Amino acid sequence: MVTFLGVLLVLLCSILILALFKFFHKFWWVPMRITHVMSSQGIQGPPYNFIYGNTKVISNMIKKSTSSPMDMSHHIFPRVEPHLDSWLHIYGNNILYWQGPQAELVVTEAELLKKIMSIRGISMGRQDMGPISNKIFGGGLVFSQGDKWAKQRKLATHAFNGERLKNIVPAMVESVDMMLKRWKDVGTKEKDVYEEFRTMTSEVISRIVFGSSYEEGKKIFQKQGALIPLAAKQLSKTRILGFKMIFKDKEDLEIDKLLADIRDTIKKMIRIRESMIVSGAESMNDYLGILLNSYHDVDENYKLSIQDIIDECRTFYIAGHGTISLLLSWATLLLGIHTEWQEKAREEVQEVFGNQSPSLEGIARLKRMGMIINETLRLYPPTLSTIRKVLKETHVGDLVLPASINIHIPALALHQDPRIWGEDAHLFKPERFAEGIANSVNKNPGAFLPFGYGPRNCVGSNFAINEAKIALTMILQRYRFTLSQNYVHAPVQLVTLRPMYGVQILFQHL
Ligand code: HEM
Repeated sequence: MVTFLGVLLVLLCSILILALFKFFHKFWWVPMRITHVMSSQGIQGPPYNFIYGNTKVISNMIKKSTSSPMDMSHHIFPRVEPHLDSWLHIYGNNILYWQGPQAELVVTEAELLKKIMSIRGISMGRQDMGPISNKIFGGGLVFSQGDKWAKQRKLATHAFNGERLKNIVPAMVESVDMMLKRWKDVGTKEKDVYEEFRTMTSEVISRIVFGSSYEEGKKIFQKQGALIPLAAKQLSKTRILGFKMIFKDKEDLEIDKLLADIRDTIKKMIRIRESMIVSGAESMNDYLGILLNSYHDVDENYKLSIQDIIDECRTFYIAGHGTISLLLSWATLLLGIHTEWQEKAREEVQEVFGNQSPSLEGIARLKRMGMIINETLRLYPPTLSTIRKVLKETHVGDLVLPASINIHIPALALHQDPRIWGEDAHLFKPERFAEGIANSVNKNPGAFLPFGYGPRNCVGSNFAINEAKIALTMILQRYRFTLSQNYVHAPVQLVTLRPMYGVQILFQHL
């Protein structure tokens, strides 16, 4: 008996020692080692705090900077990312900071960035976003790796680019038209365009992904939309080992319930679609159709599972709707203030389309509108950063990058840097893009990255630009508009860059 108890005790002690060892290794030893390696190479940053890293400091700084609205200025970097603004001033162009025990190397120096991103192992390495984001995105294209990524990327490139964009345009025009019909009674009343664009863009992505079943798709996407603020809340909390897996709070349970509902509804749609295909009733032209084709692929290399399809549908909703509604909201805000550019854009729309509906050929000729969209993406990039994971220790020239650190490319910091864009970096000046992007950035191609950088850049950028151009064209053909006095300028980062209180616009029928 004594021997048995003794063995049990030794076993328990060993497990405890092992757990403690792992805990201190992750939360103390690794951060100390990485801090030492980086500082010996001249890269400094705020000190690591045990367990929390800099998360508490960051959250306090953001709470303070966003506690009240700001003046109507586009110099939003110090408000939205006060920690980066402050540390880049204190520690230099490249800094090391800590999201919990995760090291983040922020790189703003163009030459270094170019060198780092030329290493394929890094430019392909998507960061692990932790259990919450993994739950939200699942194994979809945004976070997949290796062969699975290559397969999903190929399908998405095929679905959202080239010839197929032509087929997508009518669905976009129809959804914008529905939105504008809802605006018929707009008169002199103001509208929160952020809400309007969210509905419209979710309508578009639902049509493109689910085709004729898009009404059903909209319900899925509403639930997916409800997940994002819950995930943002959870992400700001530091999680200790598996503790949170065992003890779930109210938000964890809500997330689980929404995910189960989404999974069940997509599965049901797939079953219905499969039976329609068998009876020969349904064409396979939408994205769900393309994905289902891959489910039936005889070549194992291209085969997708049902879970892959579910993940991919959810991924495209998140990636392909919130971002465009933000681009449109910020562009409308800027054109509501800078009405001289609104007039210039309207003139161009009249020249190209008159009062006709936009077509893909005509959209390509909207040069001024392209400049306005680029300037909007520069000042208000919906996605604030591009992140890459260093999977194994890597040498970049003389610099050694330890395994597991993240490379953090801060789009907003680069987009608003006067050293790159000039002293007027914070002003809305679409003319800086008149000669194209390459000539706008002082020969610094990494300085404009609203759609990311390298082989894992945004697969939907053409889709997004086209949808934004179509929506703006159709609005400019019908309305003159200004920013309402009731608008409160309060940009915040809630996963993406959002207007905290919406964007209220006053419309006047032409
Ligand atoms: C204004 C709108 C959009 C913005 C600002 C935006 C921005 C981004 C950014 C910054 C990335 C990360 C790139 C990187 O890490 O280098 C990304 C990736 C991605 N985006 Fe977009 N995006 C937009 C619209 C869309 C649309 C419409 C779709 C789909 C139809 C889409 C699908 C994706 C996907 C699937 C990825 C992951 C690509 C990969 O890992 O291979 N995005 N996007």
